[in-house]
Amino acid sequence: MLKKAKQEKYAVPHFNINNLEWTRFILEQCQEMNSPVLLGVSEGAAKYMGGFKVVADLVKNLDAALNITVPVAIHLDHGSSVEVVKQAIEAGFTSVMIDASKYDLETNINMTKEVVELAHQKNITVEAEVGHIGGNEDGLSSEVAYANIDDCIKFVNETNIDSFAPAVGSVHGIYKGEPKLDFELMLKISDLTNLPLVLHGGSGIPDEMIKKAIECGICKLNINTDLQIVWSKAVREFLKESDAYDPRKIIKSGEASMKQAIKDKIILLGSAQR
Ligand code: 13P
Repeated sequence: MLKKAKQEKYAVPHFNINNLEWTRFILEQCQEMNSPVLLGVSEGAAKYMGGFKVVADLVKNLDAALNITVPVAIHLDHGSSVEVVKQAIEAGFTSVMIDASKYDLETNINMTKEVVELAHQKNITVEAEVGHIGGNEDGLSSEVAYANIDDCIKFVNETNIDSFAPAVGSVHGIYKGEPKLDFELMLKISDLTNLPLVLHGGSGIPDEMIKKAIECGICKLNINTDLQIVWSKAVREFLKESDAYDPRKIIKSGEASMKQAIKDKIILLGSAQR
């Protein structure tokens, strides 16, 4: 998926999933747009949904029931240890991220190498991070980090990863002011590593910056908060006007807005296949 995106200079969307309905909305819209997609599952989201096996089975069953034919990856987002990655792989995930970026470079390299050995035996792709990408869950992110270029080259040469998420100034969650992305750094890392690059914290970045990031080597854009904001706004508006109590009606009231947002992202990223 990402190799093709790199060759043809577009980016594949990674949307985080939280429940059955979100998974369905995303799959249906990606199918309608004919776009490949990575369904990102954080450890927290997996726990919320009942564990990695429940999520993997949910995605596979929905995929079959909805006759989805576009490429879909079930991707572990920010796996925090080799053990957690192992569990996701055993449960049926098809793509994993090991995020050991909070440790020193040598530890990050060693943990990532261990994951690559394990994953590649099963034809599962590995994403990893260098330079810790900050942010927080409750708004106003502030820690902005930029990866050291020599660290990136050493890391990529030693680990044999498939996609690479260096810190280039993005943060998870809501941005305080304009994002300060370092496009020169992105381009250098892309040229020197020749790997598809991943941009985390893809929500709240102006469209023009996303287009520029794709020109500079970004092949996967991670989006979580944007869909959460769009969905919850629609649900809040619906509940202001309605005394509905059926959870199906409440959750579904965010479907149209969420699908529109997914469509807009696919157009922006250029991932719809011709
Ligand atoms: P946002 O919540 O900022 O979109 O970040 C998502 C992300 O990077 C998941 O890994």
